[in-house]
This record gives sequence, structure tokens and C-alpha cells, in this order.
Amino acid sequence: MTQNAKKFYVTTPIYYVNDVPHIGHAYTTIAADVIARYKRLEGFEVFFLTGTDEHGQKVQQAAGKLGIRPEEHVDRLHQRFKELWTRLNITHTDFIRTTDERHKKVVREILTHLHDTGEIYRDSYEGWYCTPDERFWTEKDLVAGNCPECGRKVEKIQEHNYFFRMGKHQDWLLNTIRDNERFIQPASRRNEVLGFLGRPLEDLCISRPKERLPWGIPLPFDEDYVTYVWFDALINYISIHGGLEEIRKSGFWPADHHLVGKDILTTHAVYWSTMLKALGLETPKNIFAHGWWTVNGQKMSKTLRNAVDPHRLIDQFGVDVLRYFLMREVPFGQDGDFSHKALIGRQNSDLANNLGNLLNRTVNMMQKYFDGSVPEPASAGEEDAALTARAQEVVGQVRQGYEDLAFSRILAKIWELVDQTNQYIDKTGPWNLVKTEDGKKRLQTVMYNAAESLRTLAVLVYPFMPESANQMLTQLGVGQPVEAGGMASVEAWGGLQPGSQVKTGAQLFPRIDDKAAAKILAQLEAPEAPPAAPAAEESGPEAISIEDFMKVDLRTGKIIEAEQVKKSKKLVKLKVDIGTEVRQVVAGIAEGYAAEDLPGRTIILVANLKPAKLMGIESQGMILAASDNGKIILAGFGEEPGKGLRVK
Ligand code: MSP
Repeated sequence: MTQNAKKFYVTTPIYYVNDVPHIGHAYTTIAADVIARYKRLEGFEVFFLTGTDEHGQKVQQAAGKLGIRPEEHVDRLHQRFKELWTRLNITHTDFIRTTDERHKKVVREILTHLHDTGEIYRDSYEGWYCTPDERFWTEKDLVAGNCPECGRKVEKIQEHNYFFRMGKHQDWLLNTIRDNERFIQPASRRNEVLGFLGRPLEDLCISRPKERLPWGIPLPFDEDYVTYVWFDALINYISIHGGLEEIRKSGFWPADHHLVGKDILTTHAVYWSTMLKALGLETPKNIFAHGWWTVNGQKMSKTLRNAVDPHRLIDQFGVDVLRYFLMREVPFGQDGDFSHKALIGRQNSDLANNLGNLLNRTVNMMQKYFDGSVPEPASAGEEDAALTARAQEVVGQVRQGYEDLAFSRILAKIWELVDQTNQYIDKTGPWNLVKTEDGKKRLQTVMYNAAESLRTLAVLVYPFMPESANQMLTQLGVGQPVEAGGMASVEAWGGLQPGSQVKTGAQLFPRIDDKAAAKILAQLEAPEAPPAAPAAEESGPEAISIEDFMKVDLRTGKIIEAEQVKKSKKLVKLKVDIGTEVRQVVAGIAEGYAAEDLPGRTIILVANLKPAKLMGIESQGMILAASDNGKIILAGFGEEPGKGLRVK
């Protein structure tokens, strides 16, 4: 890297740590990594930022469900993201956590600055609040009385809060988006934002009362409030550089790309842009909203247990196949449906049959015809010129593709060169050329060109499949990795050194036959094991901690007397021996058991329940039973335990 390298800044969203990462999260991060790796090949000094969004209601609730403190929860879960990025060969420059002191410091700095300059004010507020989305809505926003974004119930809340003067920037923002086509992409999403801005833009509530939500960064000018999670999170793009002064000097602002999913475009295009405007900073050069991956047409969710786990895919197919598939299968910006079958299809056709086969046959023929030494090319004919011209053309198209973040198109272009090189070999027929003296001369050129084309391909596929690309270069006898030569190494034809030794290596992309494919599909499409960390949105009762559970004193006891309570169909009065004492318990089990059948049965008693009176009779505990469609079944044991034992 030269001292004066041009700087380039790319970011992913910071991920909520209320859940473990799935392929949707992997997708954005892989895309950012592809861009970062490519830009480094072009000689840029790249700052690639990712991280985790650790404050707010969602995270607080997720921790609550697990019965642990939010601090403990975020410390645990952010690791899942870091681990996945390591496995995916993500080359981020830094990983920001919004609970990092370095981040909190800058959030406080920015809040103070905006408060001092009058951009933040206090006011009373009444609105409809959607807890899962952590957003206020006005009456007219609601759809059938529910949250317009997620359709869930909203609550009416009135409170004092702090507001950011967002509304006053509406015209400026509209003009900025209209005047600059590259600012918000793709065009369809840009139009959506313009549509959103067609309605009056209100000021943004940027605080939450601590009593309602303690898990956040306290406002520096009012400790009774914490910062709204989005206001806190968006600042990560700046805080990583140390503060307002530091970002200005860093050379990394304005950011080149903020990659975001379509669901968080408004927060970036509107909230973030106006925040930057108020801070006197330029807007990012580009905010690109990609589409969503679904599974069988459905949103991935823990409740549906259909979230695709990237680890399972890496275990099965390898990291490069997954990276390739996600970038190739769906044009960036559009939604796509994930399918294991399609993944196997891509591995077999694009990777094994086309690229892998081209590499194998080329290296094998070099071994066979030239003892593994790259031959000196001789005369160039029409076919050769067509191949070299195509390679140069594809290099240009790839470069152009990155301007539009058209990953799928870039890969399609690269594969045109793969196909053309395979056709070149088929047409020139090395196996025939080797038979004559004249042919052998021609064979030198043909084999050189096939190998040189593969070298070009290795450099071009590198951002998508870095490990495979470098293995390709090793097999072709190139002494240095793609990172060392960069894009400059494919600007002209002929970089491959005659005389270098090729090396037969492992098959880069093995073919998956039908039998193996069926087995893989059966395995991968089997329902996932229950998640290690329950999702925030999972239905069912709230999780409690072991400490909470242990507060319930469950004891084994033996029923020694039982009589039906007069005038009650359901209640039986019991005397229960729990070892240390005999308790009187009134239980609603008469419809399931005749009183005379009960003495001698071992039951489980909640021994520390406050005494209560049922039909005037004191009950000193409760016995455990299940109701199966109204049929009462007492909880018991397979083996006979002693009396008064703790049940846990
Ligand atoms: N924490 C916020 C972002 C703050 S950025 C300052 C957030 N986090 S998230 O974890 O819910 O989502 C992070 C990103 O993952 C979003 O860009 C979202 O679009 C993306 N995806 C989540 N599920 C996805 C799919 N199923 N498919 C593709 N991307 C998806 O929002």
C-alpha cells in the first residue's frame, strides 16, 4: 500500500444481537467484503466496517427472555457474528459494538453538539408506539389500527421527550436525492424514498424515558433519558473514526457505500442524511438497499424455524461456494428465494463443470505435453486474438459492474470468459495438435493462452472466492497471491511467466452426483435443532432464569387423607405428608379422581405458595397436575420417591 493510496470506505449495517446470524446477515457482509477486496486490488486503502447494534428494546427483551442481564447477553451474542465473519473470510478493518466506550463517547459528543446548537429540543409527545419496531407512529400512519410496518399492535403513549429537528431538512433532502442519481440505489428504492418525502417530514423523537427503557446510552444533558436506538446506531459510521473532528481528518468521509437491506433504507436515507446535514458533514456517496432472502417464499424467522444457518452451508459446501452462490444467484437489489437445490446446481454447473473443469484439464495437459512447464507462446492466430480481446473486454466489464454493485452481472461476465476459454480448447484440440511437429508449436500457444486466461479469471473471481482464486494461481505456477498483483496484473495479456511450473492440486469444486445431492438435501432440509438462543419474537411464555425457577419450592408428598368438598364438583380436601409436616391442601381434581382412590398417592406440592381459602377452607399449597382436554392427570414419578424431597 502506498502512502498516498486513495481511501475508500464501505459499511454494513450493524446487526442486532437479539438473534443469531442467518444467511440474510451473511449476505450484506459478504457483499461488503467483495467490494472491499476488489477495491484493495485496485490499490485503494479500504476501511471496511461492520459490527453489532447492542442497545434498545429488542435486545433488552431478548435478554429478559433468557433471564440474563443485557450486558451479559450482548457479550455472548456479538461473538456469534464475529465467529461467522471469521468463517466467511470477511476482511473487515474494524468491528464496532455500540456498547464500546469509544462509540458511546462519540454519541455523547454528537448529542451535546446538536443540543448546544439548538438542533435537539424537549417537547411533550403523544403517539402510537410499536414496541417490536421501537417506533412512534401518528394516527394517520396506522393501518387498521396497527403498526404500518409490521402489522402488530401499537400502544398510545404520552410523554416528554427530546426531538431532533429533522423536518426542516425536507426540501434539502428531496433536492439532494433528486439531483444525485447515485446517492440512493437502486432506482426503484430511490423512488420509494422520494415518495416517503412527498409527505410532511416530522421531527424525530430521539430519546426514550429511562424508566421505560433503561438499556441505552443516557442523554448527556438529561440522565432520565436514553438515546433512541437508531440515533445511537447510525452514529457508528462516524464513531469508529474517533469523533467529528477525527472523521473530517480521516479521509474516509463521505463514505463510499453504506450497504443496507431494503427494510432499513428510510432510516439511512432520511434519518442519517439529515443528522449529517445538521452536523455539517457531507452525505455518503451511496446508500445501496439490497433485497431480502426468503425461504419457500416466506420470511426467515425463528418462529418458523426456517432461518438458514450459514455454518451448516459452509460445513457442507465450503465457504467459497456459499459466497459465490449468494452473489451470483440474485441480482443485488432484488429479493430472492433461497434453495439448497439451486446451490447444488450452481456448484455442479458453474463451478465444477465450467471453471473447475477448465482448470483441471489445462493443468493436466500442461503436465502431459510440457512436463508441467508453462510453454512459450508462439505465433498468434485469429482464435487467439479473439480470446485475448475477450479477456480484456471482460476486465473492463467487471470494473464497470462494480460501479453499479452488479455482482451477479459481474459473475455472469466472468463466466462468459470461462465458457469462451473452454470453447477455445475444444476448438483448437490440443490432443490433436500434439500429434504433429507443426501442431506442437501451435500447442504451445494454445496451452499458454488457456493458462493465461485462467490466471486472469483467478484475479477476477478473487473478491468472491478468495481461497479458490489463490489455489488456482498456485496450480498455475504463479508465485504470488492475487493480493500482491492486484487488478494491475490483468490489465495486459501475458503476465504468466513461461517456464514456471504448474502443480496438480486438489479438485477445487467437486461435482455432487444425484445420490449425494439427495442425501445432502435430506440433511439440510431437515428441521434445525432448536436454537441455542431463543429469538426475541418467539411465541410462548417469557423465559425465566434458573434463580427465578428455584424460588418455587416443589416437594414430594404423600396423600394420607382425601374427602370431596361438599357442594363442590371439583374440589377435594387433602392431607399431604411432606416429611417435615402434614399440609391441608384443597385441589381441583375431583373430576379426574375419586377421593377414595387418592390416599397413598405420591404427588408434587408447591410448598411455598401463600395459603389461600377455597370455599372457606384453607389450602396450604398446590399440587401439580396437567389437564388434557379437561381430563385431570396428577404429576407423578416413574419410581417411588421418599417424602419431602425437593423437585427441580
Ligand atoms: N440494527 C439495525 C441496523 C442498524 S445500522 C445503523 C438492524 N439490524 S438487523 O440485524 O435487524 O438487520 C441487519 C441487516 O440484515 C439489515 O440490512 C437487514 O435488511 C438484513 N437482513 C435481515 N434479514 C434478511 C434477509 N432475510 N435477507 C437479506 N437481508 C436481511 O436492522
